[in-house]
Amino acid sequence: MSTVTYLNYEIVDEHDWEVTDEVFEKAASKDLDEEDYGSLEVTEGQYILEAAEQEGLVWPFSCRAGACANCAAILVEGEIEMDMQQILSDSEVSEENIRLTCIGSPETDEVKIIYNAKHLPYLQNRVI
Ligand code: FES
Repeated sequence: MSTVTYLNYEIVDEHDWEVTDEVFEKAASKDLDEEDYGSLEVTEGQYILEAAEQEGLVWPFSCRAGACANCAAILVEGEIEMDMQQILSDSEVSEENIRLTCIGSPETDEVKIIYNAKHLPYLQNRVI
C-alpha cells in the first residue's frame, strides 16, 4: 500500500509556482478542494488512475493504455513504475519526471504527483 499525494497542475499553473518539492507545502497552506489537492491509498500493483477513480476523483484520460498523454502527471517525490508506454521520450521520463497514471503504479510508500500535466506545453501535441 502506498500513499499518493496529488496536486492539480492547473493550480500550479494558476499561481505560477515552480515545480519543486515546495509546491506541496504551498498547496497545503491554501484552502484547496479535495479534487485539486489531497492524498489517496494505492494498493500494490494498482494503477494510480484507477485508485483515484475509486476515490471518486475525475482525472483526465483517454486511451488507458500508455498511448496518449492525457493521463500524464509530474512525479515530484518517490517512484512510479510504468508498464510499456509508447508516447513519452526517455528524457521526458528521466529528466522531466513525467509518468502516465493509467499504467503507473507506486514503487515507493510515499509518492507525490502533479496530475493533469497534459496541460504542459510540450505534451500538447500528444493529448487526444
Ligand atoms: Fe492514454 Fe494514459 S490515458 S496514456
